[in-house]
Amino acid sequence: MVFLPGRLLRAPSRARRSLPVLAPAPVPGHPCSSGACRPVTMGFVLTFEAEEVLAEVAVSLGADQVTGWSDAEQRLADAASHTGAGGPAVAGAEVTQIRNRILAGEDPLGDAFCRIRGPAQRRPSGQTFTPGPVVRSMVAWAARSLSPARVVDPGTGSARFLVAAGRRWPHAALIGVETDPLAAMIGRATLAAAGMGGRASITLGDYRSLRLPPAAGPTLFLGNPPYVRHHQIPASWKNWLRAAAAGQGLTASGLAGLHVHFFLATALYAVPGDAGALVTAAEWLDVNYGSLVRSLLLGPLGGQSVHLLDPAVPAFADAAVTTAITCFRPGSRPSSLRLRRVDRLAGLGELSGGAALPTPVLRAASRWSPLACRAATTASRCAPLPAGHVELGELCRVHRGQVTGANKVWVMYGNPAGLPGRFLFPAVTRASELFRAHGALSTTSCLRFVIDLPADLAELAPAELAPVTRFLAQAEAAGAAGCYIARHRTPWWRVRLRAPAPVLASYMARRPPAFVRNLAGARHVNIAHGLYPREQLSPSALDGLAAFLRRSVSQAQGRTYAGGLTKFEPGEMERLPVPVPALLPAYATSASTASSPLQGTLHGSRL
Ligand SMILES: C[S@@+](CC[C@H](N)C(=O)[O-])C[C@H]1O[C@@H](n2cnc3c(N)ncnc32)[C@H](O)[C@@H]1O
Repeated sequence: MVFLPGRLLRAPSRARRSLPVLAPAPVPGHPCSSGACRPVTMGFVLTFEAEEVLAEVAVSLGADQVTGWSDAEQRLADAASHTGAGGPAVAGAEVTQIRNRILAGEDPLGDAFCRIRGPAQRRPSGQTFTPGPVVRSMVAWAARSLSPARVVDPGTGSARFLVAAGRRWPHAALIGVETDPLAAMIGRATLAAAGMGGRASITLGDYRSLRLPPAAGPTLFLGNPPYVRHHQIPASWKNWLRAAAAGQGLTASGLAGLHVHFFLATALYAVPGDAGALVTAAEWLDVNYGSLVRSLLLGPLGGQSVHLLDPAVPAFADAAVTTAITCFRPGSRPSSLRLRRVDRLAGLGELSGGAALPTPVLRAASRWSPLACRAATTASRCAPLPAGHVELGELCRVHRGQVTGANKVWVMYGNPAGLPGRFLFPAVTRASELFRAHGALSTTSCLRFVIDLPADLAELAPAELAPVTRFLAQAEAAGAAGCYIARHRTPWWRVRLRAPAPVLASYMARRPPAFVRNLAGARHVNIAHGLYPREQLSPSALDGLAAFLRRSVSQAQGRTYAGGLTKFEPGEMERLPVPVPALLPAYATSASTASSPLQGTLHGSRL
């Protein structure tokens, strides 16, 4: 395996420095008492206190014996050995204990890595390691499909996939690719401790730069590509994505996350006869930028099945996200692809089952997760609505609030510009304003104003026109006329707020939406949705509607993104089940005894 010019790291060094064998026993409660941080033994849990100690343990386990050892890893190893001023930090007995745990199928180094680096520190590199049940299901699926000559794990981390694959296929070459030197070290160490170091290699580098030499047999691509949002992806890689997709006759969006890049890279490396299973966040099934993955699966990647794991299932310890496990056989050109929803980790099994959807149906669909939902035979979320309930969309239209284009210009406290009061509209401009309202917004006194000027300024009296003209000159100087939104509206200053909605809802948070009765007649911008009744609803019915939604809607009904952020698009909100109008007033008070079969038990209907 080599990397493209300029990205090749140095050839593996086999030089082995002398390693610590014995160390003083750690002082309970004082892991760093000698100046060097030491592992603390807590029953069977080894808690490393610093990356240096983890690096030292990795070397002690033989990390530097695994092909691909890089300069960057050697530097970490050197730094680790220098840190141990009071002697080696890791006792031989502890190293043995760690090795035994790895041989028993645990991942003590990966667990320690995740403890030392918290979720916030790991998130920018997409470092969420895969739980054992998910790894085992993916390996089990692959075992029914092929006997690989080699297994490639894109973004290897602590090598959970490679070790599991190494156990299942004792002769397969195990190939890892990882950008983080410490992660690469622990991946190597785990492979070495598991007795697989001789057939393993990890290359420190970017998966998209990989070049795989031809293999003697089929290759299995198995892994959990990093979830990194497009904001963190350099323009050069976005250009790579577009060019590489164009080479396949496909289009790619610059908004695509790193997992989409990994799918494409895999499609480029794979040959007919190979197989793959990748676990990712599920958003590519439904968003525009995910069309590249969908096209790859319906084309060269040969998609076999997609298994959607409910975000309520605690699969990934630090990422509340709808998870998709995607299985593919490159070059197979299947006529259908199985979609399946799974509501328990144990339900993953060997990734069989699911409803086969014909490829023309999938090709015509812009979103796949509703198809998965419809296809599900057992999922309760797709059960018919209970008697006395309809979809919210039958009662109300749900509209996202207006985008101003430049909140720093159009949203303000008070009236510093001295504008005519009739152009200042109290509005909900932050989701927190809805959370704080506790169900009812009865005053606008705590809200900011949105400036919404008329299209025709000629209608203004001179006393009004003067401050408006002054304000518009300042707004233009601040760039408000040149932004994308302003350039696409006429005239550029017309924000066009929607009418006050009787019920407002937050739609993006790490919590269920706040449904708030808008008694104060506040407007809203695009941080909130407004619920607009199609037919008149009485105030008590509106109260009941908001109260019912507050009590019944759970986070699991939205679309959860990596990081745990849950979003309800207007269409998704319109599909929420609610009682028919005649029953709504009964839900109006929190003390109400009215009950719905959906309350408390509802886990969602996105359809
Ligand atoms: C989601 S983790 C998965 C780790 C491991 N395969 C597992 O499933 O437990 C993704 C890994 O990819 C690595 N990574 C991030 N960007 C990468 C890139 N461009 N090329 C290769 N690896 C990358 C991260 O450091 C991280 O260890």
